[in-house]
Amino acid sequence: MTHIRKAVFPVAGMGTRFLPATKSIPKEMLTLIDRPLIQYAVDEAREAGIEEFIFVSAAGKGALEDYFDTAAALETRLEALGKTDALAALAPTRMPEGALTILRQAQPLGLGHAVRQAKNLIGDEAFAVILPDDVIKGERGALAQMVDAHRDVGGHMVATMDVSRADTSKYGVLDVENETGRLAHARGLVEKPRADLAPSTKAVIGRYILDSAILDRLDTLRPGAGGELQLTDAINADVASVGVTGFRFEGQRFDCGSVQGYVQATAAFAMDRADLCDDYQAFMNDHRRPLRLVA
Ligand code: UTP
Repeated sequence: MTHIRKAVFPVAGMGTRFLPATKSIPKEMLTLIDRPLIQYAVDEAREAGIEEFIFVSAAGKGALEDYFDTAAALETRLEALGKTDALAALAPTRMPEGALTILRQAQPLGLGHAVRQAKNLIGDEAFAVILPDDVIKGERGALAQMVDAHRDVGGHMVATMDVSRADTSKYGVLDVENETGRLAHARGLVEKPRADLAPSTKAVIGRYILDSAILDRLDTLRPGAGGELQLTDAINADVASVGVTGFRFEGQRFDCGSVQGYVQATAAFAMDRADLCDDYQAFMNDHRRPLRLVA
């Protein structure tokens, strides 16, 4: 049995890098092959044993909320038509009664602010945070790997990935005290450091297991970079009192919040599907170079 039962999914961001698509479609509903990003995140949480799903949503995200609701008319119609495969495809969108809670973040004041919205629902147990725009492809879900590792070390745990020094300025970066296997004990975290100032090349990506102490910390934290309440700053402030460990997960991470990462993820997931990969490969071979570049 897992000791981590609750997961927070911050889905209130504006997704400006995907405009105009995200003008009316939540970023988390962008589709990789045939499933929206949020489905990958929820599936990963289920694999890790999560039982309570908390979405921190915002105005204009109705499609995201409807997605996990029953679609009675659609299901009745599919049943009448005998479309059993299509009905089965809906199974992952069903949530057990009471398992999903949707909160609203009134203003996009940062990831830390989004997580703080869940305070009353979390209580005093450790919980997971999953950013659905970080999609991780691998044999075993990244969160399930972290839950196993967290059982031994406790405290705050962040997923880490080795990046090039030039890229450190895009991430929260770990200041590593010592490293054992997949675990890196941190003496601090720095948000988006310049390449020459980065304390390591271990970047934090969108999976966390947090001690509930983070919620009190967020209550007293001052806004950081961009005037937003930064989750990284809150974790950093807890290094001495709670302890912070980086976990180098097994799997490939795609930044589906960026157009480039999303396109790469689409290609990687297509190549992984037995029913798509040959066609996809043949198509890409034929279109290696565009015939005409449009400015
Ligand atoms: P991003 O930094 O990707 O911001 O947020 P964004 O607004 O979603 O996208 P861009 O940068 O404008 O394109 C990282 C995660 O934190 C959530 C987002 O939904 C995403 O899962 N988030 C961010 C919130 O829930 N609330 C916020 O105030 C900020």
